Amino acid sequence: MSGIERLPRTIWWEGDSGTGQACVRLVDQRLLPCELHIMTCTTHRELCDAIADMALRGAPALGVGAAFAVALWSENESAQTSCSDYLSALDEVIETVASVRPTAVNLSWGAHQVGEWAHGCAGTLAEVKAGVVELACRLRDDDEARCRAIGMQGARLFSGAREHGGVRIMTHCNAGSLATARYGTATGVIYATHAAGDLAHVWVKETRPVNQGARLTAWEMVQAEVPCSLVCDSTAASLMMAGEVDAVVVGADRICANGDVANKVGTYDLACLAHVHGLPFYVAAPNSTIDPATACGSDVRIEQRPEREMRGFGARGTFDVPPAAHSLLEATADGVRLSSPQGHELSLWRDSDKFVADVWMCTTPAIDVYNPAFDVTPAAFVTGIVTERGVFAPEEVLRSLDD
Ligand code: MRU
Repeated sequence: MSGIERLPRTIWWEGDSGTGQACVRLVDQRLLPCELHIMTCTTHRELCDAIADMALRGAPALGVGAAFAVALWSENESAQTSCSDYLSALDEVIETVASVRPTAVNLSWGAHQVGEWAHGCAGTLAEVKAGVVELACRLRDDDEARCRAIGMQGARLFSGAREHGGVRIMTHCNAGSLATARYGTATGVIYATHAAGDLAHVWVKETRPVNQGARLTAWEMVQAEVPCSLVCDSTAASLMMAGEVDAVVVGADRICANGDVANKVGTYDLACLAHVHGLPFYVAAPNSTIDPATACGSDVRIEQRPEREMRGFGARGTFDVPPAAHSLLEATADGVRLSSPQGHELSLWRDSDKFVADVWMCTTPAIDVYNPAFDVTPAAFVTGIVTERGVFAPEEVLRSLDD
C-alpha cells in the first residue's frame, strides 16, 4: 500500500451499525494526531454537534457531512407517513444543518443537494427515503473522485519541475484528505505532484489557533511519506525571502463569483506575501465550493469561533499504567474531573488497563479575544483556481460550473 492509500476515509455511511439503526462513522479530527478515533453518529443533531465542535471540518467534508446528517434524519428519525409531510420536515432539517457553520458554502450545498433531489423525486415515500441515502453516499464518493481530478489538474502546473530539483510548495490549514471525503484538494495537488516525481518539499504552516496544519496536515504528510517540514505561521515571509518557496497552494471555503476566496484565517496574509515575493498563489477546490450567489468577498459571512480556541491548548493522551501507579488506577475507576483557579481543566479516566487524560491548559490572562476563523483573499492575489475541471483565472472561475 502506498503512503497516500494509507490515509483513512474521513466519513462514511453504515446502513446497519449493529444496533438496528443506520449510522455515520467519521474520524474525530479533534483527537488527531494523538489518536485515530472513529466516532459514530446516529442522529442529525449528533452530526451537527460534531461539525460545530470541529470533529468534522474542512469545506468538502462538511458538504458530505451535511448530506449524511439529512440522510440520518431521514433514515432514523423521520416518522411522517405522507410524502408532503416528510418533505416539509426535511426542509426544516436542511435549514438546521446548513446553518451550523456559516462560511463554507459546501455545508449548505450538501444539505440542499439532498433537498432538491427529494423534491424532484416522483416516487413513493419509501423510494424517496432510499434515494436520499443513496444520494448522500454518492456525494461522498463524488467528493473523493473530484479531489483526485483536482490533484491531476494541479500537478500539471508543476510538470517537469523535477528537472530543476522539484517544486517547494507552502500550504496553510488542512485542505487535506481529512478536509474532504478522502485525498484532499490542496494536498491532492501535493500528492499528485509527489507521485509524478515533481515535488521537492512541502512547507506545512502550523495554522493557529486550532493548528489544523500542525495536527492534521502534518499527520497526513507523514502518513503519506511526503517530504515536508512544519513551520510556525510567522516563518512564511522569511522562507520566501530566502528563496525556499516556489508556490503556495491552499484550499477554499467559499469562492465568490468574482474569484475572491474565503479560506482559513491567515490565507490572505500568505497571498500578500506571495504577491510581494512574486510567487504563484493557487487555490484548489471542487465546484461545490464555488458560490455563484455570492458576488464578492465582502458578502461572505465570516465565522467567529469561541475564545477558548485562543486562550489555551488542549490535548488528549492515553497512558500505560506502571505497577507503581495501580492504586491511582483503582482510585480513579469512576474518572476524575479537576479544574484550577487559573482555568486549567483535567479529566482523567480509565480505559481498561490504561489511563486517558484530557487536558486543557489556559495560557493567556483573562483577556478579550477576537477569533475570526476565516479571511478573504481578493481575486487579484490569486494566480489560478484549480478545480476538477481545470485551472481557471479567478475572474473566470464560474466557467468551471459550465455544463
Ligand atoms: O475551520 P476549518 O478547519 O473547517 O477550516 C478549513 C479550511 O479553511 C480549509 O482550508 C478549507 O475548508 C478547504 S478544505 C479542502
